[in-house]
Amino acid sequence: MTTRRCVCPGSFDPVTLGHLDILRRAAALYDEVVVAVLHNPAKQGTFPVERRLALVREALGEELRATVRVEAYADRLLVDVCREVGAQAVVKGLRGGTDFAYELPMALMNRHLSGVETLFLPGDPGLEHVSSSLVREVHRYGGDVSALVPGGVLAALRELE
Ligand code: PNS
Repeated sequence: MTTRRCVCPGSFDPVTLGHLDILRRAAALYDEVVVAVLHNPAKQGTFPVERRLALVREALGEELRATVRVEAYADRLLVDVCREVGAQAVVKGLRGGTDFAYELPMALMNRHLSGVETLFLPGDPGLEHVSSSLVREVHRYGGDVSALVPGGVLAALRELE
C-alpha cells in the first residue's frame, strides 16, 4: 500500500503553537508528515536553520516524532521537495482571509507546476493572532509570548536578548 505523505512547509522562524496545531492535525490525516523548513541562504532570518529544525523536533514530542520528520531545504521549489520526498499533498494552516489571499496563488502555482494538491486546515481560532514575526517582535519589546510558543522557543528567544 502507498504511504500517504504530506509536506508542511514554512520558515518556522521560530515554530509557534499555531504551527504545532497544524502539524499534529496533519499527522492525524497522513501516514507521514515532512516538515520542510524552506530557506534562502542569502537571507539570515532570526534563528539559524539548524536551530529552527531543533526547535521543531523538540516541540513535537515523542509520539509525533515517529511519523513527523523535519528537514531543511535551501533555494528549492516546494514542488521539487514534494517530488523528492514522495508527498501527495501540501498541508497548510489558514488563520483567516489574509492567509488565504497569500496562500491561494501559491497553491494554484504549485498545482500548475506539478499537480500537487494543497489542503488548507482552519487554524485554531484561539491562535489566530499568532505568527512567528509577531512573536519575535512582541518578545523583543518585552511582551509575554509564553502562551504562544513551545517552552524551547521561549528559551531560545530569551537567548537572543
Ligand atoms: O512560513 P512562510 O514564510 O509563510 O512560508 C512560505 C514558504 C516557505 C512555504 C513559501 O515561500 C515557499 O513555498 N517557498 C519555496 C519556494 C517556492 O516553491 N516558491 C514558489 C511558491 S508558488
